[in-house]
Amino acid sequence: MSKMPYAEPWRVKMVEPLKMLSREERVAKIKAASFNLFNLVAEDVFIDLLTDSGTGAMSDHQWSALMMGDESYAGSKSFLAMKETITELMGFPYVLPTHQGRAAENVLFSATIKQGDIIPGNAHFDTTKGHIEFRKATAVDCTIEVPEAISKNHPFKGNIDIDKLEACIAQYGKEKIPMVIHTVTCNTGGGQPVSMQNLREVAAVCKKHGIPLVFDSARFAENAYFIKTREDGYQNKSIKEVVKEMFSYADGMTMSAKKDAIVNIGGFIALRDEKVYQACCTFGIIFEGFVTYGGMSGRDMAALAAGLRESTEYDYLHARISQVEYLGKLITDLGIPIVEPAGGHAIYVDAKAFFPQIPQTHYPAQVLGVALYEEAGVRGVEIGTVLADRDPISREERPPKLELLRLAIPRRVYTNNHMQIVAWGLQQIWEKRESYRGLKITWEAPIMRHFTALFERL
Ligand code: F0G
Repeated sequence: MSKMPYAEPWRVKMVEPLKMLSREERVAKIKAASFNLFNLVAEDVFIDLLTDSGTGAMSDHQWSALMMGDESYAGSKSFLAMKETITELMGFPYVLPTHQGRAAENVLFSATIKQGDIIPGNAHFDTTKGHIEFRKATAVDCTIEVPEAISKNHPFKGNIDIDKLEACIAQYGKEKIPMVIHTVTCNTGGGQPVSMQNLREVAAVCKKHGIPLVFDSARFAENAYFIKTREDGYQNKSIKEVVKEMFSYADGMTMSAKKDAIVNIGGFIALRDEKVYQACCTFGIIFEGFVTYGGMSGRDMAALAAGLRESTEYDYLHARISQVEYLGKLITDLGIPIVEPAGGHAIYVDAKAFFPQIPQTHYPAQVLGVALYEEAGVRGVEIGTVLADRDPISREERPPKLELLRLAIPRRVYTNNHMQIVAWGLQQIWEKRESYRGLKITWEAPIMRHFTALFERL
């Protein structure tokens, strides 16, 4: 007997119509947008894979929680429900809400990071790195090197290299290291997970040196799914048990609730130490709002609490991650190169291998993003030379090792038929891949140019 296929553990109660423009219209729209996908009007996009952040579909339970939101300025019962849920799932006694993930970074780092500090981690996310560098501190990437030969099958490419971490601590000294940040799953590395063993080992190193360990937890539930399904000893544990053990190794967490809490906006900091919490409260109040709402409405906190419970259910995660895997398989079956294994939230198409004739300084991943919109109305995002930006001092381009088009899949939003359109679009481009030429930038902002840069075809 064959294995039963999976299906989503939900059915659709409300739909949002999508409109597919004609190919001619799409070609005109992207040209008018100066070939920058951020400049498109979202309505002109058929399948929007720009991000999985804040784009998920809430459940009926979450929508009804919205109606029960308590909008009291102080002591809202929705805050208490959110806090209780976080304490129950992650084990942290102190919770400070923020309006999204980067706000949690801003508040926590204001209280803990000073000029000249060093923050080791596994390929810190852009905003995390931004908030570190803004304080004239340095993020040091200690991610493991994975040999090419085993890269496709490595189960935990987000792991921190213990030797690199120890070397970093030895080089700079623990006084300069206010925390280690472990990102679960690692977005910058392609949505690649971190093993429980690695969390345990990193925690032991931190404990030995007296350095706090903080998890950037945006996709913690997806990470827990990978631990359960890939790591020995966790097959028979529930996702909630895995989550509880993961966070038992951390002193604190920052959370962008727009991902694994399946809400459209929101975030928080959770901590074990009362003194750190109190220090954060001061900045939380200045930047975000009083400590029981911090930039969120009561209803949003109520929906967030419900979302955390749902995203830590195995059946939900199985359908979610299987869909990402499904898209990955459709694409690799066409012979198109992607980062493997597929990450938890996105497929990353290797644009350098796709368009070997286009040099990185002519932005092959941007070319692929534009082409995919033209062919199928799909919007991805460039994670390559445009995003890597210029060297702040020499102002030279600094092409990264990987030139990728990220296709991030919103939670509970699209069907596998949508995934087929994405793969079909890529196939159209693949079949005439030699005919594509690069792009050049005609205008760019001094920093974070990818959002607003204007391009012309070469
Ligand atoms: N940490 C990680 C790992 C992230 O992926 C993000 C956001 C943040 C922190 C910041 O959270 O957006 O709520 O302020 N990632 C989004 C993305 C933007 O598209 O990957 P935020």
